[in-house]
This record gives sequence, structure tokens and C-alpha cells, in this order.
Amino acid sequence: MEHIDIVDLKHDKKYLNETVTAYGWVRTSRNSKNTAFIELNDGSSLSHIQIVIDKNNISDIGNFLSVGSALKITGKLVVAQNDKDSVEINAEKIELLGKAPEDYPLQKKRHTLEFLRTIPHLRLRANTFNAVFKVRSVLSFAIHKFFQDRGFAYIHTPILTANDCEGAGEVFRVTMHEANVKFDSEEEYYKNDFFGKRAGLSVSGQLEGETAALGLGKIYTFGPSFRAEDSNTTRHVAEFWHVEPEVAFADLNDIMKIAEEMIKYIISYVLENCKEEMQFFDKRIEKGLIQKLEAAVNSDFEVVDYSKAIDLLINSGKKFDFPVEWGLDLQTEHERYITEEIFNKPCFIVNYPKDIKAFYMKQNPDGKTVAATDLLMPGVGEIIGCSERETDYDKLVSAMKQRDMNLDEYKDYLDLRKYGSVTHSGYGLGLERMIMYITGISNIRDVILYPRTVGNIR
Ligand code: 4AD
Repeated sequence: MEHIDIVDLKHDKKYLNETVTAYGWVRTSRNSKNTAFIELNDGSSLSHIQIVIDKNNISDIGNFLSVGSALKITGKLVVAQNDKDSVEINAEKIELLGKAPEDYPLQKKRHTLEFLRTIPHLRLRANTFNAVFKVRSVLSFAIHKFFQDRGFAYIHTPILTANDCEGAGEVFRVTMHEANVKFDSEEEYYKNDFFGKRAGLSVSGQLEGETAALGLGKIYTFGPSFRAEDSNTTRHVAEFWHVEPEVAFADLNDIMKIAEEMIKYIISYVLENCKEEMQFFDKRIEKGLIQKLEAAVNSDFEVVDYSKAIDLLINSGKKFDFPVEWGLDLQTEHERYITEEIFNKPCFIVNYPKDIKAFYMKQNPDGKTVAATDLLMPGVGEIIGCSERETDYDKLVSAMKQRDMNLDEYKDYLDLRKYGSVTHSGYGLGLERMIMYITGISNIRDVILYPRTVGNIR
């Protein structure tokens, strides 16, 4: 490949005063009497490179100036006339690689995020999305690095599954039957389906992750989870990327320490490795963002007992849409009040009522609560769901029976409590919610390439 990335042309001194070739798309252009200017961007950086065209040397420039067209430029890289700290290319040859006609949707310099959502296939050519997806990439790498450096094994858990890990009935069904197929009973329907039983897309790799941790010790998964949740909010998508570490011989306190350390590590990694993007977000999306993130890294995350959180909400004097009482599953308005108004920093809420949480969580001696925590972040709410797992065979069976679960389908999971059961804990981090927190972007649809939400897939 003979061309050089624009980011390198802009920063690597060795190309100065050399003849170089750059590729890219026209972001803006200007045509004056003798000279024309193009701002070219190839996606390698948020900033563009200016192409200067002497119209006496290059004729027929009409096609080259249309916004969105793809060009190949060859010319001399020189210090910019109007900015001694920058560079520009004096074009010697221009080739039109792909023309963009006048109906190219990204004509204006700034579009709303709502509008850009209608063109997911083109929005990556806008700065906000360039920056979001760079951060997403670096953040994903940081997550792997955090766990790999600490001896966690990366496990790929199945996407097709026969269980509903969270027990919330939000599993997308998988079937090979045609729409009009008729069977006498549900049982017959599933018996004659591909797997001979009901199957779906995994809502979480946790149950299989526990299997792996109880052999390998420390593992993490990082892949998509699917939820047929009828929640049309700014924080829910039907397909999200899920990071799920699971650690043998670790109790709730141990796993919370790992979660806090991981969050601080990945924030610091992004701040260090995405400087241009983070400055962009700080300026354009959330003023004070970098300061907020640095403060989070330097803080001790708050740990608040669920019962105490309920008292704080009741005594706040604030009127909530969902009235607060012990036993309530905290709603976004409550989560935000606790983390933004009361503590203004990340908060772990611990020891939730057992009836609002999943079957696999360790029951506390009080008989009412479980050793579980959610990590709440200002501006986003819950980003981590975490718990110590129930290791007592009988208690687990009784929690499953209470929820009318079919024990036969969880035989492997129960076996783990039968053969060498040990204390173990884990958590799930939603990657998109973490990106929202780090970038300040307030709608989850803007941090994933093709968001899948109720009534929306393309
Ligand atoms: O709290 P959740 O449901 O926990 C679990 O799935 C556990 N099995 C995790 C574990 O212990 N291994 O989900 C974990 C996180 C949430 O805190 C949230 O960040 C994200 O997954 N999440 C979603 N993100 C976007 N859209 C959705 N519909 C999400 N549902 C959960």
C-alpha cells in the first residue's frame, strides 16, 4: 500500500517536504479563483489534512470538491501556510476513487445524533462516531489487557443455550420451524425442533463461566448477550456486549475489589491512549468529562447497604415516580439520585432483597437478602451486576424450586455444587454502558454500530 495514514502525515516529521500519497473522503471544500482547498479525512484521526490545489496545475476539479467523495491525492507535504504547527499537501495529482453526489446525507458540518442514527452505515464518517468507535476499540483492548495481565483465562461461552440465566424470561427463542408449522402441544413443538428442546440466545455467559472458573480458577468472558426486554430506554439494547469475570475462592468483597480495580484501570487506559478523542468528548459532549473520570479513578467507590439506600431515598424528601419502600427494585430515578445527588461518585449497592434478584445469588444469614451488588455510575446508573454465588446444594435447589425452574435443565450447574463446591463470585459489565460513562454519550444507540431495540433492526 503506497499511501500513508493522515494521522502519520500530521505527526511524523519524516514525511515533511516529501512527496506523499494520501487517501480519504472530502469533509469540506472551498473553491476560489486560482486555488481550491479540500479538508480530507481517512478515519485515522479526528483532524483532517488540508489539500491545496493550484488550479493552474490541476484542471477539471469539479468532481473532486463534492463533500463525501473518495480521493487519492499525491503531492508534497509542507508546513501549512496559515498555521506553522500544521501541515498540508500541495496536490500534484488527484484521482477520484468514488464520487458522492449531492444527495450525500452528511453535507452539513454538524448534524444531530438523532439524525445520524437514521444513517448508521454512514455515521462513522462523522467525528463523534469516529471518536466513539476508537474509544470502544481501545476500551475493549484495555479490558482484555486487565484480565490477561492478572492471569484470567478468556473463555468463549455458547451463544445458543437451553437455559435462562437471569430467570427473567427475556430469552430470544431460536427455532428452525417455519412460521406456519402446527403441533398438538408445546412439548411436541420443541421435541421436533433442531435441538429437541427449547433453545434460545444467551442472556449471559455466567452459568457456563462458573463451570470454567471451577476448573481454571479465574476466567472472563467477553461477547454478546441478548435480551428480549421490552424496555425502550436510552440504556437498553437487545444485543449488548458483556464482560463476565468469574473467580473461584473469591467472596463478594474480593470480587468487588476486582471490579473497582478494573473500572479504574480501563478508564485510565482510555484517558492515556485516546487523548484526542477524550478532549473532543470533553469539549463537545460533556463539559468536565475528563475531570469527572479522573476524580472517579482517584476516589474510593462508595459501598452502601441496600437497606441504607432505601432509608436515604425515603428521607430525601424527594418525590419519585416509583414510591420507595424496602423490597423495591431500584429504578433509574433512584439509582441516579443516589449516585449523582447523594454521593456524586460510583456506588456499590450491596445486599439486595433476595426476591428481586436471580436464583444463583448466595443467601445471606438474615434469610432476607443476598450477597449481591450493583455498581451505579453517575449519569448512567447500573453498569455492573455482581454477586457471590450460592454454593450450598440444598439452598440452591430450594431457590430454584421457589422460582418454578426445571431442575433437569440445570443438572450441570447443580453438579458443580455436588463435586468440590467452593466459594466463587463474578460480575457482568455492560460494555455499551461503560462507553456511555466514559464518553458522556447519553443514548446507548450511539455507542454500538447497529443498535437492536424494540421494533428496530436493519
Ligand atoms: O445485571 P445483569 O443482568 O447481570 C447478569 O447478567 C449476570 N449474569 C452477570 C454476572 O454476574 N456474570 O447484567 C449485567 C450488566 C448490567 O449491569 C448492564 O451493564 C448490562 O449487563 N446490561 C445491559 N446493557 C445494555 N442493554 C441491556 N438490555 C442490558 N442488560 C444488562
